[in-house]
Amino acid sequence: MDSILVVGGQTLSGTVATSGSKNAALPILFASLLADGEHRFDNVPALKDIDSTELLLAALNCDVERDSHSMRVIVKPPSMAEAPYDLVRKMRASILCLGPLLARYGEARVSLPGGCAIGSRPIDLHVDTMRQLGATVEIEEGYVIARADRLEGARILFEKLTVGGTENALMAATLARGTTVIENAAKEPEVVDLARYLKTMGAKIEGEGSSVITIEGVDKLTPGQHTIVPDRIEAGTLLIAGAITGGAVTVEQCVPQHLRSLIDHLKDCGFEIGQDASSISLASCDRWQASDISTAPYPGFPTDLQAQFMALMTQADGTSVITEGIFENRFMHVQELVRLGADISPMSQVAVVRGDRGGLSGAPVMATDLRASASLILAGLVAKGTTRVNRIYHLDRGYEHLEKKLKSLGANISRVSGSD
Ligand code: UD1
Repeated sequence: MDSILVVGGQTLSGTVATSGSKNAALPILFASLLADGEHRFDNVPALKDIDSTELLLAALNCDVERDSHSMRVIVKPPSMAEAPYDLVRKMRASILCLGPLLARYGEARVSLPGGCAIGSRPIDLHVDTMRQLGATVEIEEGYVIARADRLEGARILFEKLTVGGTENALMAATLARGTTVIENAAKEPEVVDLARYLKTMGAKIEGEGSSVITIEGVDKLTPGQHTIVPDRIEAGTLLIAGAITGGAVTVEQCVPQHLRSLIDHLKDCGFEIGQDASSISLASCDRWQASDISTAPYPGFPTDLQAQFMALMTQADGTSVITEGIFENRFMHVQELVRLGADISPMSQVAVVRGDRGGLSGAPVMATDLRASASLILAGLVAKGTTRVNRIYHLDRGYEHLEKKLKSLGANISRVSGSD
């Protein structure tokens, strides 16, 4: 299994481009199941999660062709609208095919995803939504089995804000009979990008990006072309990489507006940030202040940048209080950061980070999930000596060659084969 070796101490500088968003690409690729024919996508990131999606689409009788960052998905009716366990267990987001399969074929069998390192991550809200749209849903032999001759538009009020639940509801409602109103909908840019492609396919949607989305069901959708929105989490990770080394970096091909919360906190720390329509620049800075963050749904501070920001706070002047407001148990990276010498006390969903500039030293560490892997690499950039980050298959699920991008900015980082 591959590991990443980082030798700390280099100051990053230069310009780096963001790839397409994983979390936008996944629902959009599944949305293609709503219409037979050829769908064309650009700016698709080269990631393990996209490979897993491709395998699942192929199992559903789609022909998939990829060329660099372009992808063609030719959708044909499958003999069985099923997402099997072997594919779903590799990627929890496979639950996003539930809505499209049910809406399009009147039946969907989707394996339950199983455990996950970040809290329990249930799928009850996805299932409830399909029921509210008129489906019967049973859980049998580890599968969610949903059936409906045709879904019926409904008022869906999410008691808890959910990105994936909103996306499944949105996709399912496009082909339902009548009007669906989703209240307390997620406002994430990835939901908006999905709605954009659904509209290209002929869906009638209003209000995406706000907390109320209205969908007028149509009888049929047709395939189209779509360019995936840039990955705000990758862009944020690259900015923090520059910041933690005291370097000056420019991240291009991103949407600065999508990173407002991170930018505000970096400014609060004392970093100078410049931005134009599609790039963000961070000026070099020797010392920075601690800043408290509380993760929250968009436009709040993204939970997917919490671990990376925590790495930055280990090098700040002062103490930072980090509150995880979305997931239980999303502090798995804390113990690994502590192994590198960080002074962090986690208490339930709050962690207190006492900054100590230059206080980290390299060690072998284990990536526990996708964003934790990134945080350990960021810490490795400033740790004395060598940090070996093991189990980086998590990293490859969601970052396109992060080590190459960091190397292009001057990091001493390499990928090595070997067991953990
Ligand atoms: C998506 C993102 C993930 C990000 C998260 C929050 C994708 C592929 N993944 O995950 O990177 O960290 O949004 O921004 O887009 N919940 C339930 N029942 C459900 C569904 C969710 O209780 O049926 C809970 C979750 O456990 C969590 C909260 O709702 O506490 C929010 O989760 P949700 O927004 O659904 O996350 P995902 O869509 O899985």
